[in-house]
Amino acid sequence: MTPAPSGPARLLIRDLAQVASPAGRAAPLRGASLGEVDVVEGAFVLCEDGRVSQVGAMRDLPGLDGEVAELDGRGRSAVPGLVDCHTHACFAGDRVDEFSLRAAGATYEELHAAGGGILSTVRATRAAGEEGLRAALERHGEWMLAAGTTTFEAKSGYGLDRETELAQLRVVRDAGGIPTWLGAHALPPEFEDEGRDAYVEFLLRDVLPGASALAEAADVFLERGAFDAAQARRYLEACRDAGLVLRLHGDQFTESGAVELAIELGARSIDHLEATGRDGVAALAGSDVTGVLLPASALFLGRPMPPARALVDAGAAIALATDFNPGSAFCESLPLVCALACTQLRLSPAEALCACTVNAAHVLGRAERKGRLAPGFDADVVLLGADDWRYLAYHLGGAVVDTVVRDGRIVGARA
Ligand code: NIG
Ligand code: FE
Repeated sequence: MTPAPSGPARLLIRDLAQVASPAGRAAPLRGASLGEVDVVEGAFVLCEDGRVSQVGAMRDLPGLDGEVAELDGRGRSAVPGLVDCHTHACFAGDRVDEFSLRAAGATYEELHAAGGGILSTVRATRAAGEEGLRAALERHGEWMLAAGTTTFEAKSGYGLDRETELAQLRVVRDAGGIPTWLGAHALPPEFEDEGRDAYVEFLLRDVLPGASALAEAADVFLERGAFDAAQARRYLEACRDAGLVLRLHGDQFTESGAVELAIELGARSIDHLEATGRDGVAALAGSDVTGVLLPASALFLGRPMPPARALVDAGAAIALATDFNPGSAFCESLPLVCALACTQLRLSPAEALCACTVNAAHVLGRAERKGRLAPGFDADVVLLGADDWRYLAYHLGGAVVDTVVRDGRIVGARA
């Protein structure tokens, strides 16, 4: 993708084969509503001052006076800019050596327990410094944009000390991302002797004051070998009192009380859910907590897929995200996640689209402005190089994204 120069304040995307957008105005979408997508054939999208002002059929295109840039949509279809509501994109280094070890039989949890895994990325991230991290996130941000992601969240959690955690949050914010504080991601080596309770104490005393000024949400890794339910509760309650939205990494490997805690504390989301059983599905269906499903992570680690079909059919709100990180999901592509959703999670293309647009925007508190192509929404548009929008999920691993528009300006186009 090559960046294109910015144009005038009005952009007309014309002669599109299709425009597809989640139906209605509600968020989050649940049950049958998750599969309702409005499709206009032979369509245009008019963007003015960074917002969508009109979407319609070409035959209804009004006469436009004054300066208007035009983008030719022939042979292409448009969907809302994709929203990645769960990434760890602010990291330095890589874990390609561990990837090879896993291919030879080592497990993710074994590598973590042996001081690798998350802690190996912590070492690289601490060593990179703030400028090194900026460069890394800029690179990762270009990958995400080229894959159609116009809004992304990114977590800290690779610093685990005050300076690096806050640096990660600043770097995410300055890159236009939505920062989430994941201080309780792993136990750093300097707390090996004192233990997890002492580390949580340190986080809340020394890091939370700065983190709550930079982040919108707090997240915790509630899992065997990470933090238990009591430690997660203590961390999340303090974060909530400091004004942060609550999220959890839960039920990735084991059911350790994350669903119950998320519901009790009124968390915005619980993410992963690969190990969630029937009771967890039923509990989530009766709650306002969105289940964020990360099939690229399950695939990358060779783990069971989350019970997506059961969650949707029971009426739970779900979203889809990449989990982009160097260890468990080295994947920035939401189109690939949509393909996995349709082939592995038994969702329809329409459900997949809604889950990584409007429902992901809901997780990030932005459903009023993002995730739909409708008047008043931010003019974030992805043009797919196909005349049927379902190629978004259909073209497995394909270069399906043709042109990306953000805030009404072309920010990426396939050369
Ligand atoms: O969502 N599970 C914990 N955290 C990340 C992985 C981070 C890493 O391995 O670097 C996840 O999978
Ligand atoms: Fe994650």
